[in-house]
Amino acid sequence: MTIEAPAAELLPFRDPGYRADPAPYYARLRAEAPVYRHPIGVYVVSRYEDVAKLIRNPTLSVRKLDFGVADPLHDTVLGQDAPDHTRLRRITNRWFTPKAVEEWSKVMQASVDAVLDKAVEAGGTLDAVDDLALRSTFETICHIFGVEPTKMLEIQKATYDIGVSLGPGSDEDDWRVTGEAFEWYEQHNRALIDHKRAHPGSGLIDHFLAEQDAGNMTENEVIFSILLFFAVGHLDIKHLIVQGIRHMAEHPEYIGIYRDQPDIRPGFINEVLRIETPEQMVSRLTTQETVIGDTTVPAGEVLVLLIGSANRDPEAFPDPDRFDHNRPAAASQHLAFGSGQHGCAGQVLARAQADVVFTTLVNRFSTIELAGEPTFTHTEFLRSIAHLPIRLR
Ligand code: HEM
Repeated sequence: MTIEAPAAELLPFRDPGYRADPAPYYARLRAEAPVYRHPIGVYVVSRYEDVAKLIRNPTLSVRKLDFGVADPLHDTVLGQDAPDHTRLRRITNRWFTPKAVEEWSKVMQASVDAVLDKAVEAGGTLDAVDDLALRSTFETICHIFGVEPTKMLEIQKATYDIGVSLGPGSDEDDWRVTGEAFEWYEQHNRALIDHKRAHPGSGLIDHFLAEQDAGNMTENEVIFSILLFFAVGHLDIKHLIVQGIRHMAEHPEYIGIYRDQPDIRPGFINEVLRIETPEQMVSRLTTQETVIGDTTVPAGEVLVLLIGSANRDPEAFPDPDRFDHNRPAAASQHLAFGSGQHGCAGQVLARAQADVVFTTLVNRFSTIELAGEPTFTHTEFLRSIAHLPIRLR
């Protein structure tokens, strides 16, 4: 079934109410138009069963998608199809294996400990976003790169500014902001590369440069892969960490549960990711006629796969708006990390980083309180908290 309707009726991408809480819109879509031909010309897919199948469908392309102002992302693993995708993915795989992540977790732990020591000295109040989640994840990705953790706030801003154009509702103002962010990043990364050439080491950027010298990466691929890993190294993981902390602050029983029942920790993290899915959607282009439920989509059409909606589909997750850390893992695989060929390359790291923060907090403090109202900068693509003041005791 495909419903033709004005954008405002079913999926008003720019509407502040929709951006603040898309769940009711998703519920209506799943019920009334699970394959919705949006008036802007894309097909929006919202049911878990369809999204899970399509996200693993190798006939769908990202290379052929028009990224518009975000075109440089085609020089990264995120914007390529096989065989270039396979080539680029292979170059970074070994940096994010469970064994490598054990190393990176130690860096994360040291950063979290230092942040919390400082917060305690200052009376226990801090911003869970910039002071804790951003700083610790940023220091970790810089360590992986083999560079000093400088320009943290500028990198956070440039990354966010790129994100504003990644959703289907973006407009000319967003594209201008994104264009400037790409320019900033390109200059920044070129300077970083020059510095690394002059001061070689053994980090991920050194590895990229060695691959470039061996003819396995182009210069643009190096520049924009550095951008990609700066971005993914803090953006979504920050959201997972902050939403987990917020959940503990609003439901204090979880402090004891997380501390005393290590077995439930993966379930807790999965549930934060499911309910508060950081990236709400991924896009693909059909390269051949593709049947989705009762709808046949021709070749050359853009599919917007709503992973945020799939993760709230009651067919896959009974009582989907309820936080339940005991959901059976096998029966309900959330799609927050995507899946298939482009499934998240950093999910082991992301889970480990979140666990370092949560475990350290519950071991050190018996009370985590909100010390002010959170502020949000959600777009239709990305769930995002700008600030979450907390008090630790
Ligand atoms: C909570 C944290 C994270 C979430 C929710 C997340 C989510 C995602 C999603 C949904 C995709 C798939 C995009 C698509 O199919 O188009 C993806 C891809 C990717 N993620 Fe993550 N991510 C997280 C953390 C990380 C971290 C920490 C890293 C590494 C430092 C990372 C590296 C990547 C890479 C390289 C890709 C592209 C994979 C490919 O195209 O083959 N992510 N991530």
